[in-house]
Parts: sequence; C-alpha cells; structure tokens
Amino acid sequence: FEILMLNGPNLNMLGKREPEIYGAQTLDEIVALLTTQANEQAIKLSHLQSNAEHLLIEAIHQAYQKVDFIIINPTAFTHTSVAIRDALLSVAIPFIEVHLSNVHAREEFRHHSYFSDIAKGVICGLGTEGYSFALQSAHTWLKKNKS
Ligand code: DQA
Repeated sequence: FEILMLNGPNLNMLGKREPEIYGAQTLDEIVALLTTQANEQAIKLSHLQSNAEHLLIEAIHQAYQKVDFIIINPTAFTHTSVAIRDALLSVAIPFIEVHLSNVHAREEFRHHSYFSDIAKGVICGLGTEGYSFALQSAHTWLKKNKS
C-alpha cells in the first residue's frame, strides 16, 4: 500500500512553535517515527509539508490513482480551504484528518473544518500519537477494502 502524509503551514516550526499546545517533537521526528511504523507493515509512506496551498493541492493531484490513502493535517487551511477540500474530492482518495491539538477546546474559528464531513475519520488532541493512530487505522482500512 502507498500512503501519503500531508502537513500544512507552520508545521515546519514544530518543536519551536507554541510547545505547550503542539508539543516538543519536531516534524522530522514525527516523520521518522511514522516511516518506521510504515516499514514494519510494508507500507510505502511519502510525506510533504508545505506552507503553500497550491503545493498541497498539486501533491493531492499527483496522488491520483497512485496513492491508496492520505493522512492530512491541513493546519490553518482546515478552517479556510475549499480548494484543498475540492482537491481531495477530485482524486477520491480516502483520508484521515489529524490535528495535534484539540481544536474544539480552542478558539471558535478552529471548531469548523472544511474536511471532517468528507474524511474517513478525524483525530484531534492526541498530539503526535494521533498520526500513529491514523496510520494504523489507514492500514486496517486498506487491508479490509483494497486487498
Ligand atoms: C492544527 C490546528 C489548527 O487550528 C492550527 O491552525 C494548526 C495546527 C493542529 O494540528 O492542532 O496550525 O491543525
């Protein structure tokens, strides 16, 4: 199976950025952890972090008919981007939405997501472990539905 992990704006600052909210782990550490987990299950994991909306959209387009599952933390685009939502709908690749923080316990503007109603599932508030749960769940789903 091929799984694509996408991370939106400001996650390159992980570890430095508001650690009381987002934790001390860096994005490189999270990607390394997930890669190990993926290798153990013979999953090919690719990853892109971008601060640019169009690069995330292009990565989704390129995944068309290649990638089996997407794990995405759209970060601030969660609350703004009809364009990324439409890109995910256009390729029809199942995805899980992940947030490090519990967006529902934060500002009102973080309570709405343009992704949750079209996601297979949503994980938030569990920190970096959320990505790991998402990968595990994606694998279970793929084994059941795509093999
Ligand atoms: C986030 C939550 C978003 O509201 C915020 O804009 C982020 C990160 C999270 O992982 O908790 O940048 O997606």
